[in-house]
Amino acid sequence: MMDIATYSEIEVRRISTAVGAEIGGIDLSRELSETAMREIDDAYRRYSVIFFRDQALTPEQHIAFAERWGSININRFFKPLDGYPMVAQVIKEPDQKDNIGGDWHTDHSYDQVPAMGSILYALEVPEVGGDTLFSSMYLAYESLSDGMKAMLQGLKAWHSSRHVFGASIADDEYTKDGRIGNADNATQDALHPVVITHPLTGRKALYVNKDFTVRFDGWTVEESKPLLEYLYAHGTRPEFTCRFQWRPGSVAFWDNRATWHYAMNDYHGHRRIMHRITLEGAALS
Ligand code: SIN
Repeated sequence: MMDIATYSEIEVRRISTAVGAEIGGIDLSRELSETAMREIDDAYRRYSVIFFRDQALTPEQHIAFAERWGSININRFFKPLDGYPMVAQVIKEPDQKDNIGGDWHTDHSYDQVPAMGSILYALEVPEVGGDTLFSSMYLAYESLSDGMKAMLQGLKAWHSSRHVFGASIADDEYTKDGRIGNADNATQDALHPVVITHPLTGRKALYVNKDFTVRFDGWTVEESKPLLEYLYAHGTRPEFTCRFQWRPGSVAFWDNRATWHYAMNDYHGHRRIMHRITLEGAALS
Protein backbone atom coordinates (compact mmCIF):
# COMPACT_ATOMS: atom_id res chain seq x y z
CA MET A 1 0.00 0.00 0.00
CA MET A 2 1.00 3.63 -0.46
CA ASP A 3 2.01 5.97 2.30
CA ILE A 4 -1.19 7.99 2.78
CA ALA A 5 0.92 11.12 3.22
CA THR A 6 1.62 10.81 -0.50
CA TYR A 7 -2.02 11.22 -1.57
CA SER A 8 -2.06 14.20 -3.88
CA GLU A 9 -5.50 14.14 -5.53
CA ILE A 10 -7.80 12.89 -2.77
CA GLU A 11 -8.54 13.90 0.80
CA VAL A 12 -9.33 11.12 3.25
CA ARG A 13 -11.29 11.36 6.49
CA ARG A 14 -11.78 8.13 8.40
CA ILE A 15 -15.23 7.74 9.95
CA SER A 16 -14.28 5.05 12.46
CA THR A 17 -11.06 3.37 13.53
CA ALA A 18 -12.34 0.00 12.25
CA VAL A 19 -13.58 0.57 8.73
CA GLY A 20 -14.72 3.31 6.37
CA ALA A 21 -13.40 6.64 5.13
CA GLU A 22 -14.87 9.60 3.28
CA ILE A 23 -12.96 10.67 0.19
CA GLY A 24 -12.98 14.32 -0.80
CA GLY A 25 -11.63 16.25 -3.78
CA ILE A 26 -13.15 13.92 -6.37
CA ASP A 27 -15.92 14.39 -8.94
CA LEU A 28 -16.99 10.91 -10.00
CA SER A 29 -18.87 12.21 -13.04
CA ARG A 30 -15.54 13.06 -14.71
CA GLU A 31 -12.91 10.70 -16.05
CA LEU A 32 -10.47 10.30 -13.17
CA SER A 33 -6.70 10.51 -13.67
CA GLU A 34 -4.52 7.44 -13.15
CA THR A 35 -3.16 9.07 -9.98
CA ALA A 36 -6.65 9.63 -8.56
CA MET A 37 -7.59 6.01 -9.39
CA ARG A 38 -4.43 4.71 -7.69
CA GLU A 39 -5.13 6.76 -4.59
CA ILE A 40 -8.81 5.75 -4.44
CA ASP A 41 -7.77 2.13 -4.90
CA ASP A 42 -5.32 2.45 -2.02
CA ALA A 43 -8.01 3.95 0.24
CA TYR A 44 -10.44 1.20 -0.78
CA ARG A 45 -7.95 -1.52 0.17
CA ARG A 46 -6.99 0.24 3.39
CA TYR A 47 -10.47 1.22 4.70
CA SER A 48 -12.68 -1.44 2.98
CA VAL A 49 -15.53 0.99 2.33
CA ILE A 50 -15.12 4.48 0.94
CA PHE A 51 -17.71 7.23 0.67
CA PHE A 52 -18.06 10.22 -1.64
CA ARG A 53 -20.40 13.16 -1.00
CA ASP A 54 -22.31 15.56 -3.23
CA GLN A 55 -21.97 13.62 -6.46
CA ALA A 56 -24.33 14.00 -9.44
CA LEU A 57 -24.15 10.87 -11.55
CA THR A 58 -26.11 9.86 -14.61
CA PRO A 59 -26.44 6.07 -15.03
CA GLU A 60 -23.80 6.31 -17.79
CA GLN A 61 -21.34 8.07 -15.44
CA HIS A 62 -22.05 5.57 -12.66
CA ILE A 63 -21.34 2.74 -15.12
CA ALA A 64 -18.20 4.46 -16.43
CA PHE A 65 -16.77 4.82 -12.90
CA ALA A 66 -17.62 1.19 -12.09
CA GLU A 67 -15.98 -0.07 -15.28
CA ARG A 68 -12.67 1.51 -14.25
CA TRP A 69 -12.53 -1.23 -11.56
CA GLY A 70 -13.52 -4.24 -13.62
CA SER A 71 -16.49 -6.02 -15.14
CA ILE A 72 -20.01 -5.34 -13.94
CA ASN A 73 -22.13 -8.17 -12.61
CA ILE A 74 -25.69 -8.02 -13.92
CA ASN A 75 -27.90 -8.59 -10.90
CA ARG A 76 -30.25 -11.48 -11.51
CA PHE A 77 -32.71 -10.71 -8.70
CA PHE A 78 -33.11 -6.93 -8.41
CA LYS A 79 -35.23 -4.86 -10.75
CA PRO A 80 -32.88 -2.98 -13.12
CA LEU A 81 -33.20 0.66 -14.01
CA ASP A 82 -35.15 1.00 -17.28
CA GLY A 83 -32.69 0.76 -20.16
CA TYR A 84 -29.72 0.02 -17.87
CA PRO A 85 -29.46 -3.69 -17.02
CA MET A 86 -26.13 -3.02 -15.24
CA VAL A 87 -27.79 -0.72 -12.70
CA ALA A 88 -29.92 -2.41 -10.03
CA GLN A 89 -32.53 -0.39 -8.16
CA VAL A 90 -32.61 -0.54 -4.38
CA ILE A 91 -35.92 1.10 -3.55
CA LYS A 92 -38.23 1.32 -0.58
CA GLU A 93 -41.51 3.20 -1.10
CA PRO A 94 -43.40 4.94 1.73
CA ASP A 95 -46.03 2.18 1.86
CA GLN A 96 -43.54 -0.70 1.93
CA LYS A 97 -42.60 -2.51 5.10
CA ASP A 98 -39.51 -4.52 4.16
CA ASN A 99 -36.32 -3.10 2.78
CA ILE A 100 -33.52 -4.64 0.75
CA GLY A 101 -30.41 -5.61 2.70
CA GLY A 102 -31.99 -5.20 6.14
CA ASP A 103 -29.77 -7.75 7.84
CA TRP A 104 -26.01 -8.27 8.03
CA HIS A 105 -24.69 -9.71 4.78
CA THR A 106 -22.18 -9.45 2.00
CA ASP A 107 -23.48 -9.20 -1.56
CA HIS A 108 -23.44 -12.23 -3.84
CA SER A 109 -21.65 -14.70 -1.54
CA TYR A 110 -24.04 -17.26 -3.10
CA ASP A 111 -22.20 -16.89 -6.42
CA GLN A 112 -19.42 -19.31 -7.40
CA VAL A 113 -17.17 -16.29 -7.85
CA PRO A 114 -18.52 -13.69 -5.41
CA ALA A 115 -18.61 -10.00 -6.17
CA MET A 116 -15.59 -7.80 -5.51
CA GLY A 117 -17.55 -4.76 -4.46
CA SER A 118 -20.70 -2.71 -4.83
CA ILE A 119 -21.11 0.97 -5.68
CA LEU A 120 -24.33 2.40 -4.24
CA TYR A 121 -25.50 5.88 -5.25
CA ALA A 122 -28.22 7.70 -3.30
CA LEU A 123 -30.84 9.59 -5.31
CA GLU A 124 -33.52 10.10 -2.67
CA VAL A 125 -33.17 9.41 1.04
CA PRO A 126 -35.27 10.17 4.11
CA GLU A 127 -34.44 13.26 6.13
CA VAL A 128 -33.38 10.97 8.94
CA GLY A 129 -32.97 7.18 9.00
CA GLY A 130 -31.98 4.70 6.31
CA ASP A 131 -28.31 4.66 7.35
CA THR A 132 -26.06 1.77 6.33
CA LEU A 133 -23.78 0.00 8.80
CA PHE A 134 -20.56 -1.74 7.79
CA SER A 135 -18.43 -4.19 9.75
CA SER A 136 -14.81 -5.20 9.17
CA MET A 137 -14.32 -8.90 8.53
CA TYR A 138 -10.55 -8.41 8.93
CA LEU A 139 -11.08 -7.31 12.54
CA ALA A 140 -13.70 -10.00 13.09
CA TYR A 141 -11.15 -12.64 12.07
CA GLU A 142 -8.10 -11.10 13.73
CA SER A 143 -9.82 -10.78 17.11
CA LEU A 144 -10.75 -14.47 17.35
CA SER A 145 -8.75 -16.68 19.71
CA ASP A 146 -5.94 -18.81 18.28
CA GLY A 147 -8.04 -21.88 19.08
CA MET A 148 -11.03 -20.61 17.09
CA LYS A 149 -8.81 -19.49 14.21
CA ALA A 150 -7.28 -22.99 14.09
CA MET A 151 -10.72 -24.60 14.02
CA LEU A 152 -12.01 -22.35 11.23
CA GLN A 153 -8.90 -22.67 9.09
CA GLY A 154 -9.60 -25.22 6.38
CA LEU A 155 -13.38 -25.21 6.99
CA LYS A 156 -15.64 -24.39 4.07
CA ALA A 157 -19.26 -23.21 4.14
CA TRP A 158 -22.20 -23.38 1.74
CA HIS A 159 -23.86 -20.12 0.66
CA SER A 160 -27.26 -19.97 -1.01
CA SER A 161 -29.71 -17.51 -2.54
CA ARG A 162 -32.65 -19.95 -2.44
CA HIS A 163 -34.07 -18.96 0.94
CA VAL A 164 -33.71 -15.22 0.18
CA PHE A 165 -34.65 -14.90 -3.50
CA GLY A 166 -35.98 -18.36 -4.40
CA ALA A 167 -39.39 -19.84 -5.02
CA SER A 168 -40.12 -20.26 -1.31
CA ILE A 169 -40.45 -16.50 -0.95
CA ALA A 170 -42.16 -16.00 -4.31
CA ASP A 171 -45.35 -14.69 -2.72
CA ASP A 172 -43.94 -12.29 -0.20
CA GLU A 173 -43.88 -8.52 -0.41
CA TYR A 174 -40.50 -8.36 -2.17
CA THR A 175 -41.62 -10.23 -5.23
CA LYS A 176 -45.17 -8.89 -5.31
CA ASP A 177 -44.00 -5.32 -5.75
CA GLY A 178 -41.47 -6.32 -8.38
CA ARG A 179 -38.36 -5.10 -6.55
CA ILE A 180 -37.03 -8.64 -6.38
CA GLY A 181 -37.84 -11.38 -8.84
CA ASN A 182 -36.51 -14.20 -10.98
CA ALA A 183 -36.89 -16.90 -8.36
CA ASP A 184 -35.88 -19.37 -11.08
CA ASN A 185 -32.34 -17.99 -10.91
CA ALA A 186 -31.94 -18.97 -7.27
CA THR A 187 -30.81 -22.48 -8.01
CA GLN A 188 -27.07 -22.63 -7.39
CA ASP A 189 -25.31 -22.87 -4.07
CA ALA A 190 -21.64 -22.02 -3.65
CA LEU A 191 -18.90 -23.40 -1.41
CA HIS A 192 -16.31 -20.95 -0.05
CA PRO A 193 -13.58 -21.04 2.61
CA VAL A 194 -14.74 -19.74 6.00
CA VAL A 195 -11.49 -17.80 6.30
CA ILE A 196 -10.33 -16.23 3.05
CA THR A 197 -7.09 -14.59 2.08
CA HIS A 198 -8.26 -11.35 0.55
CA PRO A 199 -7.32 -11.32 -3.17
CA LEU A 200 -6.28 -7.63 -3.09
CA THR A 201 -4.70 -7.14 0.33
CA GLY A 202 -3.47 -10.62 1.32
CA ARG A 203 -5.12 -10.15 4.76
CA LYS A 204 -7.23 -12.90 6.27
CA ALA A 205 -10.95 -12.20 6.65
CA LEU A 206 -13.97 -14.06 7.98
CA TYR A 207 -16.19 -15.08 5.06
CA VAL A 208 -19.57 -16.27 6.30
CA ASN A 209 -22.65 -14.06 6.59
CA LYS A 210 -26.08 -14.20 8.17
CA ASP A 211 -28.18 -13.76 5.04
CA PHE A 212 -26.60 -16.31 2.75
CA THR A 213 -24.45 -18.87 4.62
CA VAL A 214 -26.45 -22.01 5.35
CA ARG A 215 -24.02 -24.53 6.87
CA PHE A 216 -20.43 -25.69 7.11
CA ASP A 217 -19.39 -28.25 4.53
CA GLY A 218 -19.75 -31.76 5.99
CA TRP A 219 -21.89 -30.44 8.90
CA THR A 220 -25.69 -30.39 9.18
CA VAL A 221 -27.61 -27.11 9.37
CA GLU A 222 -28.35 -27.83 13.05
CA GLU A 223 -24.71 -28.58 13.85
CA SER A 224 -23.57 -25.44 12.03
CA LYS A 225 -26.07 -23.07 13.64
CA PRO A 226 -24.47 -22.45 17.06
CA LEU A 227 -21.03 -21.69 15.63
CA LEU A 228 -22.43 -19.57 12.81
CA GLU A 229 -24.53 -17.61 15.28
CA TYR A 230 -21.49 -17.05 17.46
CA LEU A 231 -19.59 -15.71 14.44
CA TYR A 232 -22.50 -13.47 13.40
CA ALA A 233 -22.71 -11.94 16.87
CA HIS A 234 -18.93 -11.61 17.10
CA GLY A 235 -18.68 -10.04 13.62
CA THR A 236 -21.01 -7.19 14.53
CA ARG A 237 -19.25 -6.02 17.69
CA PRO A 238 -19.62 -2.22 17.62
CA GLU A 239 -15.85 -1.66 17.60
CA PHE A 240 -15.62 -3.40 14.19
CA THR A 241 -18.25 -1.16 12.59
CA CYS A 242 -19.03 2.23 11.14
CA ARG A 243 -22.34 3.87 10.31
CA PHE A 244 -22.92 5.98 7.23
CA GLN A 245 -25.63 8.64 7.04
CA TRP A 246 -26.70 9.17 3.46
CA ARG A 247 -27.54 12.41 1.73
CA PRO A 248 -28.79 12.70 -1.85
CA GLY A 249 -25.65 12.42 -4.01
CA SER A 250 -23.73 10.22 -1.57
CA VAL A 251 -21.88 7.21 -2.96
CA ALA A 252 -20.58 4.20 -1.02
CA PHE A 253 -18.11 1.79 -2.60
CA TRP A 254 -17.63 -1.25 -0.37
CA ASP A 255 -15.46 -4.32 -0.50
CA ASN A 256 -17.67 -7.40 -0.32
CA ARG A 257 -14.79 -9.68 0.68
CA ALA A 258 -13.71 -7.54 3.65
CA THR A 259 -17.01 -6.24 5.06
CA TRP A 260 -20.58 -7.03 5.94
CA HIS A 261 -23.24 -4.35 5.63
CA TYR A 262 -26.72 -3.74 7.05
CA ALA A 263 -29.30 -1.33 5.63
CA MET A 264 -31.32 0.16 8.51
CA ASN A 265 -35.08 -0.15 8.05
CA ASP A 266 -36.15 2.69 10.34
CA TYR A 267 -37.87 5.15 7.98
CA HIS A 268 -41.35 3.77 7.30
CA GLY A 269 -43.54 6.22 5.43
CA HIS A 270 -40.60 7.71 3.53
CA ARG A 271 -39.03 6.92 0.17
CA ARG A 272 -35.42 5.80 -0.32
CA ILE A 273 -34.08 5.33 -3.86
CA MET A 274 -30.59 4.06 -4.62
CA HIS A 275 -28.81 2.75 -7.71
CA ARG A 276 -26.40 -0.13 -7.19
CA ILE A 277 -23.71 -1.49 -9.47
CA THR A 278 -21.92 -4.65 -8.42
CA LEU A 279 -18.44 -5.57 -9.65
CA GLU A 280 -17.27 -9.06 -10.51
CA GLY A 281 -14.72 -10.60 -8.18
CA ALA A 282 -12.16 -13.40 -8.22
CA ALA A 283 -12.32 -16.98 -6.95
CA LEU A 284 -11.78 -17.11 -3.19
CA SER A 285 -9.17 -19.18 -1.38
C1 SIN B 1 -27.60 -3.55 -0.10
O1 SIN B 1 -27.62 -4.41 0.74
O2 SIN B 1 -26.97 -3.67 -1.15
C2 SIN B 1 -28.36 -2.26 0.13
C3 SIN B 1 -27.66 -1.39 1.11
C4 SIN B 1 -28.42 -0.13 1.36
O3 SIN B 1 -29.46 0.10 0.75
O4 SIN B 1 -27.97 0.66 2.18
